[in-house]
Amino acid sequence: MPAPVVRVDQLTKVYRTRRERVTAVDRVSFEVQPGEVLGLLGPNGAGKTTTIKSLCTLVRPTSGEIEIGGVNVRAHPYRALKRIAAVLEGNRNIYWRLSPRENMEFFSGLQGIPTRTVRPRIDQLLERFRLVDKANVSARKLSRGMQQKLAVACALIKGTEILLLDEPTLGLDVETSYELRGALKAMARDHQRTILLSTHDMNVVQDVCDRVIVIHEGRVVTDDRVTNLLHMFRARAYRFILEGRLEDRACHRLERSFEMLELHHTDHRTEIEVELLDSAALYKMMDVLRESGAIIESIDRQDPNLEEIFLAIVRGNN
Ligand SMILES: Nc1ncnc2c1ncn2[C@@H]1O[C@H](COP(=O)(O)OP(=O)(O)OP(=O)(O)O)[C@@H](O)[C@H]1O
Ligand SMILES: [Mg+2]
Repeated sequence: MPAPVVRVDQLTKVYRTRRERVTAVDRVSFEVQPGEVLGLLGPNGAGKTTTIKSLCTLVRPTSGEIEIGGVNVRAHPYRALKRIAAVLEGNRNIYWRLSPRENMEFFSGLQGIPTRTVRPRIDQLLERFRLVDKANVSARKLSRGMQQKLAVACALIKGTEILLLDEPTLGLDVETSYELRGALKAMARDHQRTILLSTHDMNVVQDVCDRVIVIHEGRVVTDDRVTNLLHMFRARAYRFILEGRLEDRACHRLERSFEMLELHHTDHRTEIEVELLDSAALYKMMDVLRESGAIIESIDRQDPNLEEIFLAIVRGNN
């Protein structure tokens, strides 16, 4: 495996206010490989923004080390920062009076890339972000979503190896969010960019990321490939309502056959909550019920929501 481009080792950040101490990030460690798209997924207050700000030196860690491309961020912040472009949440770091094209020329110019050579890339990004019509309109006249896309485009035009994005799709409408995700995927695929993005939206992770780190209350609770995690997300919770009380033998058989099963019954009715991972499990469940002569009143399927998944992950780690 190649050397990681980002290495975070036991990162801890404690914010001290007059009244309290908040441990926003608690001994977080992870690595990002070149060309990888890594999602930092977590609910509000999990520590995502603090982690990303620590990487781009906007937050000084309480302890722990960060290396970007083998360079220690604490020891050599400027050298490390050269390899990063960042777009932070709510901070659209673009010039309002400049047009999208001028903004991109400006940011690539800062990196010392001559305007002439960057032009085709600017056209490509305008196209990809569907900003061609607005290429020459001043940025302050764009919609919020367009400004956000432009901010990401300006980060991309810098041509740095690593891109940090804090909640890139927050507040975007569905279509704009799709465009942005598509553009990010394409950049990672075609230009071997390494992307670290934070989000609390599982769909963004599913769509764009190769790997996901779930953080909760400042701690890493899961670090896994998205395909593996999706398998877990795909688990389906079902609720069966049966007429009358299910006979004991059938109850035992169900409990033996299905791990995630809860049974509640009164004399008139039996309620079964069960997680069935695939259709084979569902058919098996139906078979057991049919063989016991149960009369099914209803079956509801419930997709687990993100909160439930978080809880399951967090509990599993305690
Ligand atoms: N400057 C600060 N001073 C004090 N506490 C802070 C500061 N910034 C963040 N925190 C606290 O640190 C914790 C983590 O915050 P952070 O912004 O990193 O979370 P987040 O995962 O980005 O959340 P969100 O999804 O809401 O953006 C929270 O409890 C927050 O209140
Ligand atoms: Mg945040």
